[in-house]
Amino acid sequence: MITITKAAEQDLPIIRDIAYQTWPTTFGEILSPAQISYMLEMMYSPEALRTQVIEKKHVFLIAQDTDSNEPLGYVSYELTYKGQPLTKIHKIYMLPASQGKGVGRSLINQVATIAVQHKNTRLGLNVNRYNKAVQFYERMGFSVVDHEDIDIGDGYLMEDFVMEKPLIA
Ligand SMILES: CC(C)(COP(=O)(O)OP(=O)(O)OC[C@H]1O[C@@H](n2cnc3c(N)ncnc32)[C@H](O)[C@@H]1OP(=O)(O)O)[C@@H](O)C(=O)NCCC(=O)NCCS
Repeated sequence: MITITKAAEQDLPIIRDIAYQTWPTTFGEILSPAQISYMLEMMYSPEALRTQVIEKKHVFLIAQDTDSNEPLGYVSYELTYKGQPLTKIHKIYMLPASQGKGVGRSLINQVATIAVQHKNTRLGLNVNRYNKAVQFYERMGFSVVDHEDIDIGDGYLMEDFVMEKPLIA
């Protein structure tokens, strides 16, 4: 059994810790070690995480094992992204040992439920075009609607698909 809870500010180190454990295996064959370090610092420094939660209104949900309380993974989302009826999933990461056990599906479903409660009609996200997670999202009902190359500084690019899933109220 898993328990899903909204992360408070004091839980942000747990998020950072999961990201640092998960990124090397996720992106080791896609991005250089230098780009991985650069992006982790940009997105997961304590200051960056605080800004996401407090100023940008990103909500983090943490999935934990109900018996042991051990964290398994997290998702972050933003309701009504840029004024559209779209909930943007900014991040979703399961620890390597917790992948393939249905936790990611539970987190997506939880975000979908909350999005519908807020009258949003679509889920959207960006994913690296070479990430195996593309197949996971397709399985979850997302499809590719666009692609974007995003310059993130220091000569690095994010080569993403934009994917969306329609929601039924
Ligand atoms: C991608 C990720 C979030 C998926 O979560 P998960 O808990 O591992 O996935 P689930 O076990 O809930 O899988 C749900 C379904 O998707 C399928 N699936 C999951 N990963 C898949 C993959 N790489 N290829 C094909 N299908 C996949 C599962 O087989 C399952 O299908 P089912 O309907 O037959 O049961 C997780 O594996 C992860 O954190 N990966 C590394 C980090 C990452 O890439 N994050 C996304 C960044 S944009």
